[in-house]
Amino acid sequence: MEIINSVKELKAKVAALRDNSKTVGLVPTMGALHAGHASLVKRSVRENHATIVSVFVNPTQFNDKKDLEAYPRTLFADCKLLQSLGADYVFAPSVEEVYPEPDTRSFSYPPTDTVMEGAFRPGHFNGVCQIVSKLFMFVEPDRAYFGEKDFQQIAVIRAMVADYTKRGEEWAKRLEIRPCPIIREEDGLALSSRNTLLAPNERDIAPNIYKALKDSVAFSKTHTVEETKQMTIQQINAVEGLEVQYYDIVNAITLESVTSWDDAEHIQGCITVFCGAKPIRLIDNINYK
Ligand code: PAF
Repeated sequence: MEIINSVKELKAKVAALRDNSKTVGLVPTMGALHAGHASLVKRSVRENHATIVSVFVNPTQFNDKKDLEAYPRTLFADCKLLQSLGADYVFAPSVEEVYPEPDTRSFSYPPTDTVMEGAFRPGHFNGVCQIVSKLFMFVEPDRAYFGEKDFQQIAVIRAMVADYTKRGEEWAKRLEIRPCPIIREEDGLALSSRNTLLAPNERDIAPNIYKALKDSVAFSKTHTVEETKQMTIQQINAVEGLEVQYYDIVNAITLESVTSWDDAEHIQGCITVFCGAKPIRLIDNINYK
């Protein structure tokens, strides 16, 4: 496995792979890797001749400076894990390498990027589109892998790729976005790099989020969307130390809120919960149908 720090070297490696008709899988990450990321890398290794994993804490997607500073950075351990998984290249650039000048591009794909996380973290998805589009243009991968824990992020990235496809970009036309299922701890907590920031007592209460989501699926069989939403929020807020920021039940494709279980073919519940005193923001989601 090779570690690459410059865009020029990255492009040279990719060009050599293409010259040899090799398919390329890209796994974009911000590091602090866990079994969730490992599942994406394993899948890419299985499905492509070569796998490139980017490890870059992207400053433009953080709307809170403290959150950016607190984000765990564990490149040495990340590289060890990636080597054991069979990744071929790690792209770990500096901020200056990725953004030699400020990125002033703006992306807008409503409602996917304006609802839920988009409403509570203004600018977040613009930053995600900035970095992910750059990575796509550097690597021009055949397939790119994203975890479904960030359910909304996948919808926004799909909209962005569709936009570039419409504009005639060859890399976008070829690219396949591959969503991968959430990986959970045994007690149900969705794996996240942020989990390492939880104090032991916060870690103990965090699994109540998934428990409430699962209970809500059973509850939904005999209740309306609104009743299901309220029940989920109340069950989580009843746990001391947890506070729901939002819970929405949405069309899984457009991310528009639904009011009836018949409103869409696929329906997803998406939640963000504050955990503990700092607090740590945890996100999760569940499929209703
Ligand atoms: O999901 C993440 O870790 C990040 O948003 C991503 C896609 C790597 C872009 O920085």
